[in-house]
Amino acid sequence: MIAKASAPAKTILFGEHSVVYGEPAIAGAINKRAFITIKDSEDDRTIFRAPDIGFEAELLTREKKYILLKGKPGIIRYILEVLYTLHDHTPIDITLNSQVPIGSGLGSSAAVTVAMLAALYRYHNIRFNKKSLAHDAHMIEQAVQGVASPLDTLVSTYGGLVYLSRNKKVEHFNVNFNVPFVVGYTTKHGNTGKMVKDVKNLKTRNPKIINPVITSMGNLTNYAKQAILKRDFNKIGELMNINHGFLDVIGVNTLELSRMVYNAREAGAIGSKTTGAGGGGSIIALCPGKVEEVAKAIARDDNVLKIRFTRKGVSSRV
Ligand code: PMV
Repeated sequence: MIAKASAPAKTILFGEHSVVYGEPAIAGAINKRAFITIKDSEDDRTIFRAPDIGFEAELLTREKKYILLKGKPGIIRYILEVLYTLHDHTPIDITLNSQVPIGSGLGSSAAVTVAMLAALYRYHNIRFNKKSLAHDAHMIEQAVQGVASPLDTLVSTYGGLVYLSRNKKVEHFNVNFNVPFVVGYTTKHGNTGKMVKDVKNLKTRNPKIINPVITSMGNLTNYAKQAILKRDFNKIGELMNINHGFLDVIGVNTLELSRMVYNAREAGAIGSKTTGAGGGGSIIALCPGKVEEVAKAIARDDNVLKIRFTRKGVSSRV
């Protein structure tokens, strides 16, 4: 028996950090995916392999433990949690192929979790719908991370661009948003928990300054929603640039991130900003007609992805 599934990674276009304080956010699935293949085991062991990142481990699913065979752990905790929660412990062979760098603020853990759940359900011939899958994936992320916003797993499951409103209502944009972006990721992985805490402390020390900024970030996201609906790319770009400024104010940008953001603009991007938690992680640049120029301007080693937003969510036709 072979079961396969894939799920997209995501980027946050607007509203990171302010969303923590109840402000709206906009995130979208991108055309870079995590692919999971599950096969019957050939030797009575459960093995997890991720050849792209040179990782291999034997999984002891009953104990929620693993024996490291090769590479650095990371994503393994999500795979183990899925198996511990939902698998009957039959030995299986799991392979992850990922088009997204792990831990770069592009929601790789959500993409892997969603793809793993969908592949496992198929392996066991269990019917599932997107609503229950998004819910299960969020539970897995929460179990592994302690806290997790439902946004990443929602986007990886449903695909498309998603608007999360002030009262946490999810709206799926019904608009063609097939415009090119470039993502640049830094050598440093951002630590989301730490960044959220740093912003909270800054806010506590300077409430009269930071509280209005958080509110403005929310207002900006609502303007962005209108601009996206009108496909007004110049406005979207302008708002991305303002948003980067706000992220600077709340202290989550780094020299490496801001250097990429400004290099992207110099090379012709109409908007660019840090995406996700910051402190490392990634930037996103809107650059219709200038993809190659922008990619070249921010490239260092192998740190650039040319992306588009996609409506394709989780899929077991891979
Ligand atoms: O690290 P990422 O890309 O998952 O982004 C985190 C976004 C925050 O708003 C900083 C935190 C959150 O849970 O929404």
